[in-house]
Amino acid sequence: MKRIGFLTSGGDCQSLNATMRGVAKTLYQAYDDVEIYGILEGYKGLIYGNYKLLSSKDFSGILTLGGTIIGTSRQPFKNMRIPDENGLDKVEAMKGNYKEWGLDCLVILGGNGTHKTANLLREEGCHVVTLPKTIDNDIWGTDITFGFQSAVNIATNAIDCIHTTAASHGRVFIVEVMGHKVGWLTLHAGIAGGADIILLPEIPYDINSVVKALDKRTQEGKSFSILAVAEGAISKEDAALSKKELKKKRQKNPYPSISYQLGEEITQRTGQEVRITVPGHTQRGGEPCPYDRVISSRLGSAAARLIIKEQYGYMVGFRDGEIVPVPLEEVAGKLKMVDPKSTIIREAKGLGICFGD
Ligand code: F6P
Repeated sequence: MKRIGFLTSGGDCQSLNATMRGVAKTLYQAYDDVEIYGILEGYKGLIYGNYKLLSSKDFSGILTLGGTIIGTSRQPFKNMRIPDENGLDKVEAMKGNYKEWGLDCLVILGGNGTHKTANLLREEGCHVVTLPKTIDNDIWGTDITFGFQSAVNIATNAIDCIHTTAASHGRVFIVEVMGHKVGWLTLHAGIAGGADIILLPEIPYDINSVVKALDKRTQEGKSFSILAVAEGAISKEDAALSKKELKKKRQKNPYPSISYQLGEEITQRTGQEVRITVPGHTQRGGEPCPYDRVISSRLGSAAARLIIKEQYGYMVGFRDGEIVPVPLEEVAGKLKMVDPKSTIIREAKGLGICFGD
């Protein structure tokens, strides 16, 4: 008998169910007797002992289903060592439930914060195998995360839809793309959607460069422009501030997000009419695209193989098209950012895309 706990943590994405299905199907193929504990709402379920037993039929028909059948929640890593309001030691509680349920391994699907806690559980003696989930594609140790490509499709579609209305009205449009502190999603959707200007957290922008690029388009007789702006985009001026100074400045900032500030600056400087579109959480919704279904199925199957071989303490990642086990201690606490000197940036600049630098 094998008893495995599944847990999805942090922001959801389109391909969580497809990935769990990949793990489950491979386990059911390998063992006659396997019990899967669906731990509810991420680490919260592990802390407070909430789970439901899943059977093979729970994994049928979910390849194309977005979200997560076992729920998720954000449980910040920095609070894990802090007792809850009733004095409960969360780490001890998680270890206690792991032992009480008699789990052979925890399969944890999540992003950066999730991986820090997964590594903590490994250090505390739990068997853990993780899978890289996030639309942000910012997990160190893997070229791609599942969810990313589906989100690229949605953000690209948002830019595509903006194109026709921008052209008809001769306006400047800003599409604000998710991605937290990194620019992968904006970069890919921006190139795919034919954005004229792409602003990323990794390349702080100078408003003068942005205005210059817009003026150039006007001089060339182009009546509209599209900016793909990462939610984490930052000006050169702000990037030069210390963390403390930036926090203070942002507390006084009246704009709901960077795009609104940028939009106002553009209107003031160019006199052009600006509109802002924020696709927001739609980028995490709906069904996974075929590409994600394939990598989720492959990653899920590979994670199950690690369990079968009793190789614990790894994240299953993709490197150069191959699936590789990456030690959790190497993944935890690191962020994979866009390299401003990478070839993709060089090629995008070659196309005439302005990055505001
Ligand atoms: O990490 C995924 C993500 O969608 C980020 O791109 C975004 O910054 C964040 O989650 C939003 O978080 P929440 O859903 O908690 O508002």
